[in-house]
Amino acid sequence: MVQTTQPNAAGKDGSMTRRRIMSGMRPTGRLHIGHLVGVLTQWVEFCKTDEAFFEVADLHALTTAFEDTSAIKRNTTELVLDWLAAGVNPERCAMYVQSHIPEISELHLLLSMITPVSWLQRVPTYKDQIAEFGSEIATYGFLGYPVMQLCDIAIVRADTVPVGKDQLSHLELGREVVRRFNHLYGATLVEPQGTLSEFPDVPGLDGRKMSKSYDNHIEIADDAATTTKKVRSMITDPLKIRRNDPGRPEICPVFALHRMVNAVRVPSIAETCRSGALGCVDCKSELSTKMNEVMAPMRERRASLDEAQVGAILSAGAEKVRAVAKTTLADVKTAMRLP
Ligand code: TRP
Repeated sequence: MVQTTQPNAAGKDGSMTRRRIMSGMRPTGRLHIGHLVGVLTQWVEFCKTDEAFFEVADLHALTTAFEDTSAIKRNTTELVLDWLAAGVNPERCAMYVQSHIPEISELHLLLSMITPVSWLQRVPTYKDQIAEFGSEIATYGFLGYPVMQLCDIAIVRADTVPVGKDQLSHLELGREVVRRFNHLYGATLVEPQGTLSEFPDVPGLDGRKMSKSYDNHIEIADDAATTTKKVRSMITDPLKIRRNDPGRPEICPVFALHRMVNAVRVPSIAETCRSGALGCVDCKSELSTKMNEVMAPMRERRASLDEAQVGAILSAGAEKVRAVAKTTLADVKTAMRLP
């Protein structure tokens, strides 16, 4: 069952049911503002209301980047800096690196024994990625990608997994493996549910979905001048050529970004764009000013942190998670009657 993420519901007596949230990202480079509004703002809220585990999935990165691993360490730091910049609070969650938790790898081996290859071959991302990148990426480890993802989740017994649409098939597979395990060896593992972000896709500079691979993105780490320059280069309604031409805000990516950072001004911007009174140059200039205002504290936070602090946060995170992970792994081995 897919749910949209809701603020945590208060129980009858007013108490909150704390969910156990787990999510992760592969360390592939700096994040952009699409990640910020779509994902990280949710993570910030989960830290306040729930028990949260956020993982740098470096082993998952290896499934496709095994030939050149030189960027994984640097990208791990950059990724965590972006999380911290966005306001994810390491005191109120666990932030850690997948390969620092050997229990995940051990669980992966155990669960791989009960996972039929045919289930993995049916996962749409597996088929799609091979169609896109060719069969050279089809390693043994890559086939097991969703099993490893399940182990990330299952090792901390998370019940709720915020992810993008493309990841829901991995959770589906994960639940089937959990059911098979619990059926074979007795109820031990938790069936995780996916929750989708309630934010729409964020458009990039060219109007397509914001994505590093399209090079149409604004990074969280971009400075104010770069942001202003990028916003100035954005496409707008192609039929609005001169200032007084009426525009169509509903198809304009600049307007879509106003909705995200400049909500109070949205009705007036829509009206003056439609009437022609507002020109695209002024509209963009207001957007970059507002965006820089919103981003300034994040950039400051990012710049105030160094690699050593990130390292300390990640080792504290690993320590927290390993305590939980050891218990889960012990329960799994007991259930499997390993000697
Ligand atoms: N596969 C996820 C992605 O590419 C990243 C990921 C790894 C993940 N482990 C996870 C997400 C566990 C949720 C839970 O986006």
